[in-house]
This record gives sequence, C-alpha cells and structure tokens, in this order.
Amino acid sequence: MKNSIITGIGHYVPDRVVTNFDLEKILDTTDAWIQERTGIRERRHVTPGEQSNYDLAIEASKNALNDAGMEAHDIDLIIYATLSPDYVFPGDGVLLQRSLPFRNIAAIDIRAQCSGFIYSLSVADQFIKTGMYRSILVVGSELHSVGLDYSNHGRHVSVIFGDGAGAVVLTPTDELNKGILSTHLHSEGQYAEELAVIDPGFYKKDRITSEMYKPGGSAFPVMNGQSVFKHAVVRFQEVIQEALKANHLTLDDIDLLIPHQANLRISQLVQKKLGLSDDKVYNNIMRYGNTTAASIPIALNEARSENKIKEDSLVCLATFGSGFTWASALIKW
Ligand code: UT7
Repeated sequence: MKNSIITGIGHYVPDRVVTNFDLEKILDTTDAWIQERTGIRERRHVTPGEQSNYDLAIEASKNALNDAGMEAHDIDLIIYATLSPDYVFPGDGVLLQRSLPFRNIAAIDIRAQCSGFIYSLSVADQFIKTGMYRSILVVGSELHSVGLDYSNHGRHVSVIFGDGAGAVVLTPTDELNKGILSTHLHSEGQYAEELAVIDPGFYKKDRITSEMYKPGGSAFPVMNGQSVFKHAVVRFQEVIQEALKANHLTLDDIDLLIPHQANLRISQLVQKKLGLSDDKVYNNIMRYGNTTAASIPIALNEARSENKIKEDSLVCLATFGSGFTWASALIKW
C-alpha cells in the first residue's frame, strides 16, 4: 500500500486585520481580557458582502496547486472541511469545483468542525492507500466573522474566531516511512451542544424564524468555554500519545507539533504537560484567532515557510473541537 505525501501547501487570509482594539469599539471587551484568556492579538475578517467562504478556499487552493506544480485539472478529488458553509446545501466542495478548471470530479464536504482538516486528511489518505485516487486537494476554509453574535451574549465566542483558508495537495509515494504515517479520529457526541450553531437547522422545528437571528438567538454560536477548555487539554494529550504509540515513537521523536489553534492557553498547557520545548510547538493564533478547519493548514504553511519543517522532520498535527471531535496525524516530511 502506498503512503500519501503532502506535495503542496497554500493558504489565504483576508487583507482586513481586526485587532482586539477594533473589537473594543463594537463589543464590550478589552484587549487585556482577550490576550490574557486566549493569546489572540488580531484576526482577519472578510469585508462583509464581498467575499464568500469558497472565495477564500479558491485562493488557498490556487496557492497549494502552484506549490505542488499542478493544475486544477490534475486533481482527482476535492475534500472540503468547513463549519461555516456558504449554503445549507449544496456543500462548498462543489462551489470550489466550479470555480477552478477541475474536471467533473467528486467533491466531498466534511463536517467535523475544528477537527475537519485532520478528518479530511485521513479520508484522503485512505483513498490514496486503496489506489482509487492519486491527487487529492484537501481544503479547510472558514468564514466566521459574518455569523458571530457581537452582543454581550456571544462576546466570549466572537473574540476568538477568525476567517481564513488553507489547502494541501496529497499524492502517493512508494517510499516507506514517508508522508502520512497514521491518522487517529475520535468523537463524543454527548457534548454536541457544548459548542454549536443550532440554527437554521431542522431539529424539531415548526419553521425557521427571524427570532433566531436576533442577538442571543440560536443562529449564533454557543459555547461552554470552560468545558471545551478542560476536555481539549486532556484529549490533545491522549490523541498525540496515541499517534506516537501506533508508530512506536516517543515525544522525543517529534520535530514539530502543530496543534489546532483553539486558544494559546490550551496549546501552552498541552505543551507543558507533554514537556515539549518552545521550538517544538508552532502557534500563530496571536495573528489569526481560531480559524477552526483552516487553522492547521495555515499553520503548516507558515511553519514550513519559516523553515521549521525540513526533509525528514516528524510533524504531529493534533486537534480538538466541536462535536466533541478530536484527532491527530503523524507525518514524516
Ligand atoms: O476549537 C475549540 C474552540 N473553542 C475553544 O477552544 C474555547 C475554549 N475555552 C476558552 O478558550 C475560554 O473558555 C474562553 C476564552 C472562551 C473564555 O474564557 P473563560 O475564562 O472561560 O471566561 P468565561 O466565559 O467563564 O467568562 C469569565 C468572565 C465573565 O464575567 P463574570 O461573570 O466573571 O463577571 C464573562 O462575562 O469574563 C466575561 N467575558 C468577557 N469579558 C470581556 C466573557 N467574554 C468576554 C469578553 N471580554 N470577550
């Protein structure tokens, strides 16, 4: 069986920088509160009405294809992870498919929130291992800013999320011990409503109403932040250890851990508990906030351009988020 290697990476974030001080002007918060609780200094927001989720994905995909030295028509499958889709249906995968010169290939949307990118990587890896597809574009793209509740009710959520997209191209290799070594996926649905957007859903509804869209309404994200935080710290550690154990490796073997950029305090606590040095953990949440499914591919691209990932580096990706879902991937570069 072949392994999958990442042959191209790209990302794209909107130009519009929104600092904590900018948020102070539109909601009851402070730069000090946000930095202390999350480490975030700024994030990117689209200019409302001008960019869609899949516009961000198009740019990230073009960059990844360019990095791989490939054209859209070379791709056999699109896997698109997002929790902020442009339409309820169809999925964003087909919107991306029509936007670049792809063939009439399958486009799969993955709904695993902050774990969407690693879940998608895992699905892509299985298709490559079976030989069904040879070139797969995996995209994580999010447009949070237009769907946040900027009233006091939602301020603990609104300050953490940002917009952006990242993409990778996967192809097969015959080399052993190269590329994706393994992926590990989990969920615990009993916590589904701890971090969720309930509407406009179809769960036991009479009709969709305008009430849902009023401040504090059910069309905005709800989050039990402390519960998410506590579970995340435990699950991150477990799923990283699981990946290492499956490959007969130890924490010392990791060259770079790229945690999903949920909250800098979560990443720092996980790093401390695992005893990893600063140079072995990559964080960029300070500049982008939490971009959910896009956070890992954006961080992967930046880490590589900063020369933190080299030939033969062992890179561990790990995530935790809404669902609850959590996952890891171990990659030999
Ligand atoms: O990918 C997974 C995504 N989610 C996460 O990773 C979230 C994990 N959880 C967290 O990061 C933290 O729970 C938050 C950063 C979201 C919130 O921090 P917290 O320490 O759990 O705050 P809290 O919600 O318990 O609120 C503490 C206080 C409250 O005031 P009182 O009741 O103590 O007077 C809130 O009303 O902070 C207040 N508060 C704010 N103050 C200023 C909540 N949000 C804000 C805000 N600015 N934006």
